[in-house]
Amino acid sequence: MSVNLSDVTRLIPCSVALLSVATKEKRDVMTCGCMFVAEDQPFFIVSVAKRIFSHSLIEAAGEFAINVASEGQAGLARKVGALHGQEIDKYEKLGIQTEDRGPGKAPFVKSSFANIACKVLTSYPVGKYTVYIAEATDFAVDSTQRPVAWYGDRYFALKDEVR
Ligand SMILES: Cc1cc2nc3c(=O)[nH]c(=O)nc-3n(C[C@H](O)[C@H](O)[C@H](O)COP(=O)(O)O)c2cc1C
Repeated sequence: MSVNLSDVTRLIPCSVALLSVATKEKRDVMTCGCMFVAEDQPFFIVSVAKRIFSHSLIEAAGEFAINVASEGQAGLARKVGALHGQEIDKYEKLGIQTEDRGPGKAPFVKSSFANIACKVLTSYPVGKYTVYIAEATDFAVDSTQRPVAWYGDRYFALKDEVR
């Protein structure tokens, strides 16, 4: 029996983030997974394909925002992840409402579970991706919302606590 090792990546439930990024001239948003490095330091890790437009903006801006997708944003996360922002403005195309944070600052996406502004600390090339480690510099949370998880290419609401 042949085994496709790429399938093992689908075994890990992931967070769903709308990563927003902006320079003074351009802005973009992509869907990605995000995790923290350690509990006692507010550092986060994301992996971004080198070929996509968000990558060039992160390189230029040195910062981005992690907008933790809420239940109502699962469809938006799928759409954002299927479009490329080089030629279109995804915010306009998809009607994404933002809280602007000033020129060259990543906007916060409204209706997210949480918004976390991050400054890139360091990055590592890993094949076709760049892995960024970034420090949280500011955040907002809407505890009336609930985050979603991504697992096996499907989105799940985080509902019942299990013990
Ligand atoms: C649920 C989901 C998770 C994704 N995770 C990542 C990721 O971790 N890294 C990445 O580079 N692309 C990821 N993508 C694909 C990017 O979101 C997509 O290539 C990006 O939106 C391209 O946009 P851009 O060219 O405007 O940057 C993911 C897509 C979806 C739907």
